[in-house]
Amino acid sequence: MRFPFLFVARGCKAVPRLQQSQFPSPLSALPRYQRISVLAHLCKDERSYFITTPIFYVNASPHLGHLYSAVIADCLHRYKLLQGFNSKFATGTDEHGLKIQQAAEAAGKDPLTFCTDVSERFKHLFSSCNISYTDYIRTTEQRHRQAVEHFWSVLWNKGLIYKGSYEGWYSTQDESFLTPLQVGDAVDSSGKQIKVSLESGHQVEWMKEENYLFRLSAFQTQLLDWLKGNPQAIQPERFYQTVLQWLQHDTPDLSVSRQRSRLQWGISVPNDPEQTIYVWLDALVNYLTVAGYPDKHDQWWNVAHHIVGKDILTFHAIYWPAFLLGAGLPLPQTIYVHSHWTSGGRKMSKSLGNVVDPLQRSQMFTTDGMRYFLLRQGVPDSDCDYTDRKVIRLLNAELTDSLGGLLNRCVAPALNPTQVYPSFCPEFFPREQGGRAVAEDYHMLDAVKNLPAVVEQHFESIHVYKALEAITVCVRQTNAFVQRHTPWKLDKSNSEEQRWLDTIIHVSLECLRIYGTLLQPIVPEISDKLLSRLGVQSGERSWATLNFLPRYQGMDCPFEGRALGSDSGVLFSRLENENVDKQKPTKAQKAAKQK
Ligand code: MSP
Repeated sequence: MRFPFLFVARGCKAVPRLQQSQFPSPLSALPRYQRISVLAHLCKDERSYFITTPIFYVNASPHLGHLYSAVIADCLHRYKLLQGFNSKFATGTDEHGLKIQQAAEAAGKDPLTFCTDVSERFKHLFSSCNISYTDYIRTTEQRHRQAVEHFWSVLWNKGLIYKGSYEGWYSTQDESFLTPLQVGDAVDSSGKQIKVSLESGHQVEWMKEENYLFRLSAFQTQLLDWLKGNPQAIQPERFYQTVLQWLQHDTPDLSVSRQRSRLQWGISVPNDPEQTIYVWLDALVNYLTVAGYPDKHDQWWNVAHHIVGKDILTFHAIYWPAFLLGAGLPLPQTIYVHSHWTSGGRKMSKSLGNVVDPLQRSQMFTTDGMRYFLLRQGVPDSDCDYTDRKVIRLLNAELTDSLGGLLNRCVAPALNPTQVYPSFCPEFFPREQGGRAVAEDYHMLDAVKNLPAVVEQHFESIHVYKALEAITVCVRQTNAFVQRHTPWKLDKSNSEEQRWLDTIIHVSLECLRIYGTLLQPIVPEISDKLLSRLGVQSGERSWATLNFLPRYQGMDCPFEGRALGSDSGVLFSRLENENVDKQKPTKAQKAAKQK
């Protein structure tokens, strides 16, 4: 069994097998993040992880909010891979339902052709933005139809679905049933009085139909017990509390089908061709389909984590767990909830004309630029307003100036004419103070040493922005370290001064190696560029290799004396024009939009 590359004590060679290892410290002596990684590699097959995005409606083209859901999931997937997990990452498109049926009609296309066209646009966006999914599901696929039919039959055979009649409000845009308290009055563009969903603002209609109902009311207590026993099941905490509140009220039985005469575009109820399965039941089962349901789903289904926007929390935190409990299946381990991106202070919508096109923006600001912005500025707990100006300011400050500037300084031929990872000299940085390093330098070492654990903790609660904040603070500290010791002023003809200069650069490159490794889930291209420039090989970029400054611990550093990688230009080019929001689109932007 292979174990990952590890740093070993001075004089020892890295060994390929743990059983034969002369590795000096027992596993328990390693920091938590390293222990996890080593264990993850040892038990690779058992350490599975399954992350999903919601599947996206194909009634319109992808917008920034969709990319946000996908980028969060991609970040967690990449992070788990770095930790040595066997990770599966599923995304896809939600293609059935009245809303899609109507959109296809309006476009004058048959529904499947219409769905294929829009689904391809999502795929294109995701591949352009390095969304590294391992499965892409479309609800119109045969494998999904089989899973839904099977799931329905299980619920039916258990007596959890019965024929009844439903009367109440329905929003086609949200594909959702509403209670009278969730509905309000409004006036449409022609001045007509209408009823709308108070939450989404979408028009609702009164619906009275014979259909099938699911015994949701029977699950209220079990849902409460599940949540009380699993306070981490819904994160962030704020949304966990919201769901607990919802469950204080009754959960009436849920209509889970529509009459075929009203809805043709969907999966028929098994043994009743007059009824079509409710699009949300159909859609939620996608998570099981990609896990391999009904034949072989245990490996993935036991370790499922969902990313969802706050608008679809009820479906995921109440309906979905109730369906799963009914079907006798395990519940998801975590439902990660994020808030929304607004534009001009308002929810993005086609009619308001404030939809931000993620493809165009990733062409303008680069893919990694957009990924960084969304994860650095997006706060899961509350809505955020998007402006191009914010993107430019943030990326220039943190990627171009701070991180890029630090790299530039440390690899500049003037300071590093031999282009190697220079040596660390312990006399300048003794374990106890008293060398040339000062108190702030030791604080920085502590901060960078603890950084992987801090980042891990924030990733685990999808507070990626906090992880990025912590990295940014450390980058700033490293810049201050270089600034404080002004290595460019040291006399290179004096050997002691040269060794001190080398030590400053060695410490800074070690910091950069840690930042580059930790940033891989967020900005994979920039991290690759950074690590390649430092000469860090692909097998040296996992969580297990995050051993910061081993020479300070008296251990070997495999990079010391190694040639740096070739210079492939600046890390992140400065973006021009911070007043971009006030300007008309440029020709390039217009052209990008037309593509
Ligand atoms: N098809 C359903 C999900 C079914 S999952 C079994 C759906 N689709 S959606 O296309 O409307 O939304 C997909 C995701 O995008 C949701 O998580 C939603 O919250 C997210 N976003 C849509 N608009 C958003 C913003 N303006 N900002 C951030 N995310 C938002 O719901």
